[in-house]
Amino acid sequence: MMLEAIGVSHNFDYDLFSDINLQLNKKESIAILGVSGSGKSTLMHILSSFMKPNSGKININGESIYDLPSKKLEDLRRYNLGMIFQQHYLFRGFTGMENILSASLMAEQSIDNQLLEKLGIDQVINQSAADLSGGQQQRVSVARVLVKKPQIIFADEPTGNLDKDTAKSVMDVLYSYVKEEDRGMFLVTHDEKIASSCDKIYLLENKILKEL
Ligand SMILES: Nc1ncnc2c1ncn2[C@@H]1O[C@H](COP(=O)(O)OP(=O)(O)OP(=O)(O)O)[C@@H](O)[C@H]1O
Ligand SMILES: [Mg+2]
Repeated sequence: MMLEAIGVSHNFDYDLFSDINLQLNKKESIAILGVSGSGKSTLMHILSSFMKPNSGKININGESIYDLPSKKLEDLRRYNLGMIFQQHYLFRGFTGMENILSASLMAEQSIDNQLLEKLGIDQVINQSAADLSGGQQQRVSVARVLVKKPQIIFADEPTGNLDKDTAKSVMDVLYSYVKEEDRGMFLVTHDEKIASSCDKIYLLENKILKEL
């Protein structure tokens, strides 16, 4: 098992969700559905080491991540975890390629040029990130995460800005990475068709995460 959430609850001014339990295994993709505001992004931040929940535990490779010393947690983020945020953060003054290069250097990995072709961004990669279309920026964000070759990918609506065909090709790249390289993925999406390609589908509703 790669990741396990045990009894995870979180509240801001009010209870967001409680007693979430789930497990992610190798080669597995898990989709998380739920209406806007139900807490999907918050759950992704908790699972991916960016936010400690009010109670409960996240174990990755058998270790409770929020109990790790900060250097070990940093290394886990740097080498093992890949987060595709809902609001993609690119360095706007840099080109697409420079953005991707910085991610690969940080994780000490090389860039596979075929990946850029598969994502359909090889022709635009030398433009400044600020000049790329929303969907191109989104695909650069996907590339930034994939070049790290992370063990677990957390993708928060990675195809939200994309047309149907481009979305499908980006998802195919993500799914085949997970299957062929023995990795795992959590995917937040509003698209039930995309979710149906995952191995498990969960719905976050009325503060509860339930498997569909
Ligand atoms: N840091 C925070 N402090 C206070 N409230 C927050 C914080 N982050 C999120 N929330 C609140 O928690 C709720 C869930 O937010 P979240 O972003 O997790 O929803 P979501 O399911 O991802 O929605 P969407 O589909 O619109 O992206 C919202 O009501 C939001 O205002
Ligand atoms: Mg969200």
